Amino acid sequence: MIPVCRIEDLPEGESVRIEIDDTTPAIAVFHTESGLYAVDDTCSHQDASLSEGWAEGCFVECPLHAALFDLRTGAPTCPPARRPVRTHEVGVVDGMIHVRPAVREDALA
Ligand code: FES
Repeated sequence: MIPVCRIEDLPEGESVRIEIDDTTPAIAVFHTESGLYAVDDTCSHQDASLSEGWAEGCFVECPLHAALFDLRTGAPTCPPARRPVRTHEVGVVDGMIHVRPAVREDALA
C-alpha cells in the first residue's frame, strides 16, 4: 500500500493526484460524501486529469468533455468516454490514506 496523505488533509469534496513511479500511471484519490475512491487519473477519452474534475457521490465528471465515470467500477456512464478507467484499492490505516495500485494488464505479459 502506498501512503497518500492523512485523512484530515483530504476533506470531503476534495481530490488529490498522486504519482508513484515512472511505470505506474498517476492515480486520482477522491473523498466524497460516499467515501474514498481511487481511479487512474488520466481520462480514458483524452489527456485530462480526473482529479481536476467534479466528484459527487460515486461519480466524477471529466473536466475536459464531461464524461461521467462511476468511481466504484471505473466505468463511463456517458460519452464521449467509452473505455473504463482502472480502479484501485484505497483505505485508511492509522489516519493515513493508502492506495494499492491495481496491476496493469500489460505488466503481466
Ligand atoms: S478527456 Fe475526458 S471526456 Fe474527453
